[in-house]
Amino acid sequence: MQHTNSNPPVRTVDMDVDLTAHLPPQSVSDRIAFAFVKLLRFFADRLFAKRYGHRAVVLETVAAVPGMVGGLWQHLRALRKMQDDDGWIRTLLDEAENERMHLMTFIQIAQPNWFERALIVSVQLIFYNFYFFLYLFAPRTAHRVVGYFEEEAVISYTAYLAEVDAGRHEDVAAPQIAIDYWQLSADATLRDVIIAVRADEAEHRDVNHSFVGVIDDRRSKPAKA
Ligand SMILES: [Fe+2]
Ligand SMILES: [Fe+2]
Repeated sequence: MQHTNSNPPVRTVDMDVDLTAHLPPQSVSDRIAFAFVKLLRFFADRLFAKRYGHRAVVLETVAAVPGMVGGLWQHLRALRKMQDDDGWIRTLLDEAENERMHLMTFIQIAQPNWFERALIVSVQLIFYNFYFFLYLFAPRTAHRVVGYFEEEAVISYTAYLAEVDAGRHEDVAAPQIAIDYWQLSADATLRDVIIAVRADEAEHRDVNHSFVGVIDDRRSKPAKA
């Protein structure tokens, strides 16, 4: 497939990430967000077990939704309030692009079966609409949900890496799109790709949890005149 983007995105891999960070739920809505994410994890674990390539493809199609929805709502908020977005829109759209690149990478490693393709379409229909309204009415909870999603993503990619390191999953050559995107060496393998993706997920985790903190700060201060 010819890559026609004249200005393809690139990223550098953060090698110094906290792989075990967990933010304990602090409020009722945090607890709901955490329980919701754990419930989805339960189903994902049943569905994919150790088929990590398939798991990555299906879950990255979901992971790329919140950033775009959040970016849209923050854009509309800036217009409505005639107020600067403090860089949130760019950050959220970058997250969506980054997750889409994860998908473009893993689709080179595992092709979903017909059931998974049908699942992707139906889950998008449900999840997009769910997240759209969640962000409208409860942006704080929406970011918390993503923070917890990403905690789980870091755990899953660590488990995927362990499978590769144990030789239970072939350490194939990294797809060219991944080498270009993360600026990996020409002989990079799946192992390097998983490490790069996992670092991205840890970044999303920290960004989304920190956005919750910013929303809390805004709410505890009186509205600006
Ligand atoms: Fe991802
Ligand atoms: Fe993610």
